[in-house]
Amino acid sequence: MAPFLQLRWLVHWLVSAAAWGLLCGAGFAHSPPLMPSLAPPCPLHCICLSQSQVVCNSASLRGVPSTLTPTVTQLSLSRADLRVLRSDAFAHLRQLRRLALDACNLTKIRPFAFRGLPRLRELYIQHTPLATVDAFAFAALQNITSIVLSHNRIAQIEAYAFAGTNYIKLVSLRNNPIKRILAHAFSGLNDVVQIELPSGIRSIEPQAFAGLGGVGTLELAYMDLPALLQDTFRGLTRVGRLALRESDLGVIRVGAFDGLQRVDVLEMCNNKIDAVEELALVQNNSVRSFKLTGNHMLESPESVVLEVENVVISGNHLPCECGRDPLANPLALTADFAEENYCISPLKVRGRSLASATGAGAACRGEAGGSARARAAAGAGALLGDALALPHLALTVTALAFFAGS
Ligand SMILES: *[C@@H]1O[C@H](CO)[C@@H](O)[C@H](O)[C@H]1NC(C)=O
Ligand SMILES: *[C@@H]1O[C@H](CO)[C@@H](O)[C@H](O)[C@H]1NC(C)=O
Ligand SMILES: *[C@@H]1O[C@H](CO)[C@@H](O)[C@H](O)[C@H]1NC(C)=O
Repeated sequence: MAPFLQLRWLVHWLVSAAAWGLLCGAGFAHSPPLMPSLAPPCPLHCICLSQSQVVCNSASLRGVPSTLTPTVTQLSLSRADLRVLRSDAFAHLRQLRRLALDACNLTKIRPFAFRGLPRLRELYIQHTPLATVDAFAFAALQNITSIVLSHNRIAQIEAYAFAGTNYIKLVSLRNNPIKRILAHAFSGLNDVVQIELPSGIRSIEPQAFAGLGGVGTLELAYMDLPALLQDTFRGLTRVGRLALRESDLGVIRVGAFDGLQRVDVLEMCNNKIDAVEELALVQNNSVRSFKLTGNHMLESPESVVLEVENVVISGNHLPCECGRDPLANPLALTADFAEENYCISPLKVRGRSLASATGAGAACRGEAGGSARARAAAGAGALLGDALALPHLALTVTALAFFAGS
């Protein structure tokens, strides 16, 4: 490499933090240290820009170099061929503040791989084949600004992956094919400002967020769930804002919010909701504000209990049943409920406010008995799968069949 080029790289480095990204992307090979008089020899396949900044981005590098000096604060192993990170892989580099492991062919992170790094502030692992975050992989990280795990192939986060990891600003899991959030996936992660999850989540196990305490924002968006199960949020405590948005939430089961505690704002916005067995936020949940806005509910909720300081229920689309007073809807808990929410069905009144649709029985006109029967039958069919597993639903099916036949 021409010397002036090297100098230019160095200047660039000193001038701008963005230089880091450039260096990682450049893919250049081993060169001698820049300050041989001051620095100990630089490891093979690395460029030691100073005693504190080292870039080792050669694909010939296998594993974390063991001969790096303990003074290193910024280390990039991007584009190295790391494959497996063993436990305590960086324990000889206690001064590390920034660690980039992008595109480093990582497939496994052993428990406590990052232990012994009290000063680490930024950790980047992106564009790797990493498919699971195993238990304790990120355990024992403290006071980190960001753990960025986007653009990997993470399909699963095992229980306790982040155990004992406190005071984090951001954990990003964007752009990963995560389909399921397992129970206790975030257990032991405390005081995190924001957790970013990918879109496309298809199941959340009960207690998925148990043991997660002190979250600024937890946003669950673009999910495709069959149901929001009982105890989904049990053990989640101290949340600034919990948002369920732009998702198919399926059926909200009895007790979905049981055991959730101390939430400033709970939002359910712009979701499709097939049915609500129960929507209960009781005093023990200590939710300050609840916002239910812009949702499409295919059936009226069966039971709603909102022991919450502030409630907003507006812009939702709900069934307008023929001859039924909209204020009989269990959600009719706010002053302008009938004006601020709309009919989703029947077709004739779709999109009209609940208040206007009920005037003079507008919802009833053009609704023959036959179609009501068809709806009931369709509902029974959809329930049948669950009914086989859940005896109490078998009763519902029987009841629906009875009404359909009457
Ligand atoms: C990545 O690791 C695999 C083995 O896990 C190896 O076969 C492959 O050559 C590595 N690729 C690169 C680019 O280092
Ligand atoms: C992390 O921050 C907390 C609160 O600011 C502090 O009490 C703790 O000592 C810090 N831990 C480390 C390892 O720096
Ligand atoms: C309310 O929360 C407290 C504290 O977690 C718990 O001990 C108590 O059993 C809960 N009460 C009810 C009625 O669920």
